[in-house]
Amino acid sequence: MSDYRLAPSILSADFARLGEEVDNVLASGADIVHFDVMDNHYVPNLTIGPLVCEALRKHGVTAPIDVHLMVKPVDRIIPDFAKAGASYITFHPEASDHIDRSLSLIRESGCHAGLVFNPATPLSYLDYVLDKVDMILLMSVNPGFGGQSFIPSTLDKLRQVRQLIDESGHDIRLEVDGGVKVDNIAEIAAAGADTFVAGSGIFGHSEASDANHYNSIIEEFRQKLAEVNSI
Ligand code: DX5
Ligand code: ZN
Repeated sequence: MSDYRLAPSILSADFARLGEEVDNVLASGADIVHFDVMDNHYVPNLTIGPLVCEALRKHGVTAPIDVHLMVKPVDRIIPDFAKAGASYITFHPEASDHIDRSLSLIRESGCHAGLVFNPATPLSYLDYVLDKVDMILLMSVNPGFGGQSFIPSTLDKLRQVRQLIDESGHDIRLEVDGGVKVDNIAEIAAAGADTFVAGSGIFGHSEASDANHYNSIIEEFRQKLAEVNSI
């Protein structure tokens, strides 16, 4: 497997300079912009909405924007994010009363659809919708905040989902979110993830305003992933 994608989470970026921060991580080799939407209801924190997504597009961001909805309910806000330029829209199954409907709504809106699994959420939510998801996102922390530690049981869950995806024959990305750092990304990739969200691991450094710093940290991530490929 070599199609690894790095998705910096802008939750840890400097919001006062968001456009510049996103430009810098993309210029440094990041692939996807991970966009965390929190509603102070489904999760105990409040972040950004479609207007900010639209602002990034107007600023000139052309990379995929991966909208991670941590909101309840989910359906009302899906078309707004599609119009605002989202590429992927993922949501937590517990936050939707009609999972199949929400997934269809995302695709009908022209976006790639995904389901997000909290550390304690069972994979059985996938049983009847594997043909309707383009991405499966495993949370390796409980959602709501950046800077938490990776929960090790996620590795087993990743292996299970990797097997499910491979056996299904569907083209589904397997993303991991929470506590991904240079020192654990290889292990996470070896367990089957192909798309890696990293917030504090990329933005959370004292020199974070220096674009060159992003080059070096993203290069370190790539180096670790290259070693997985050569095993
Ligand atoms: C947490 C968010 C994550 C968060 C990850 O609820 O979904 O995307 O930004 O941050 P780190 O990489 O710092 O764990
Ligand atoms: Zn996220």
